[in-house]
Amino acid sequence: MVERPRGTRDFYPNEMRLRSWLFDKFHAASKAHGFEEYDSPILEYEELYTRKQGEEITQQLFNFEDKGGRKVSLRPEMTPSLARMVMAQAKTLPLPLKWYSIPQCWRYERTQRGRGREHYQWNVDIWGTESISADAELISIMVHFFKSVGLNSEDLVIKISSRKVLEEVLGALGIDGNGFTQTCIIVDKMDKLPAEVIENQLTEIGLDSSSITTIQTILGIKELDKLEESLGEQSSAVLELRELFSMLESYNIREWIEFDASIVRGLAYYTGSVFEAHDRKGELRAICGGGRYDRLLSSLGGNDLPASGFGFGDMVIMELLTDRGLLPDITSGSQDVVISLGEELRPEAMSVASKLREKGRSVDVVLDDKKLKWAFRHADRIGASRLVMIMPEEWKDGKIKIKDLETGQDDEILVSSL
Ligand code: HAM
Repeated sequence: MVERPRGTRDFYPNEMRLRSWLFDKFHAASKAHGFEEYDSPILEYEELYTRKQGEEITQQLFNFEDKGGRKVSLRPEMTPSLARMVMAQAKTLPLPLKWYSIPQCWRYERTQRGRGREHYQWNVDIWGTESISADAELISIMVHFFKSVGLNSEDLVIKISSRKVLEEVLGALGIDGNGFTQTCIIVDKMDKLPAEVIENQLTEIGLDSSSITTIQTILGIKELDKLEESLGEQSSAVLELRELFSMLESYNIREWIEFDASIVRGLAYYTGSVFEAHDRKGELRAICGGGRYDRLLSSLGGNDLPASGFGFGDMVIMELLTDRGLLPDITSGSQDVVISLGEELRPEAMSVASKLREKGRSVDVVLDDKKLKWAFRHADRIGASRLVMIMPEEWKDGKIKIKDLETGQDDEILVSSL
């Protein structure tokens, strides 16, 4: 038997119902904040992803040559496609854009709990404003979603920092540009790799031991007041973070957020605020993450446009919701099961089913010759609310029998009254 590729998933109807439920929550949180949905092809030219700074993501491409010899790749993330779309119509699109999407993304990763080789990633982005209020709005969308699935601020925390923290510290040490980006990518792995490995990698890109110690000290800071003591009250990182935190107080979501300087994110393009949601118990990988990326377009050959956004995978959140017992019990959604007792009444059953469907009911018609007992069990399994029976005696009088499965009440009604 041919198996499915490692790290990919099938969605049998049981799982698909839950996936649709989750996506409905993504749609609802996005729409509640005035965002519009977009999409793009899953296949892109590989060069959209080839960035030079040694990010993990660019080494995990599902890439190949197509029949015309062109180098293409399945998308590992949505942001470059979104950037391509924005760039193509930058002159005409009304700004700011508030767009969202739920693409399937492909990364050749080591599979583990909460990480696969494909995942669906809810992406929410705002383009065309430098205002910190965009970053605040994005965090509000995350919280809106978390509340809508029954999670609270005791379950999770959104950790926030800014790339400007490291930019200022490294700038004072004479490290900027590529050195800065590479440092961010390396220190992002601090909680996954041993300290010596991180130190060696930082040494390899040219940092001396005193610079490494300075970086480690700064990244250990968990309070804005302490950060201010280190960077000074005029530091633009501190000022922006204070502004963001005060806005989030206005949204009344202060208990969901924490400053944590160790959040830097592993993608090269972030330039300002960065944030990630984590379960407070620390058992799972990051639930979602994002930040401000004001200079992505110039790296793709266009004119820069400020942007901020986040990506939110479907895997870790499902793990968390399962652990907390928060997944709903969803049945197939058919309201009526229609059964004819006897083959000869099958056409009548079809006609009754059609009438019910015209009235807007969802109807599951029994296709084979089955016993009533089977129909009851089936109706119970799919969560139907009524069993509609076409029986020889009643049919002669132009009637059908309907059992309300919630109350147990039986009714006989005229077919003509349907
Ligand atoms: P990212 O941190 O690479 O960011 O991924 C965002 C989220 O996607 C992760 O927090 C996780 O929920 C999910 N995710 C990523 N890789 C996997 C995987 N292999 N298996 C399961 N889930 C995964 C980005 O991709 C950015 N483009 C997000 C963004 C949008 N930034 C601005 N706008």
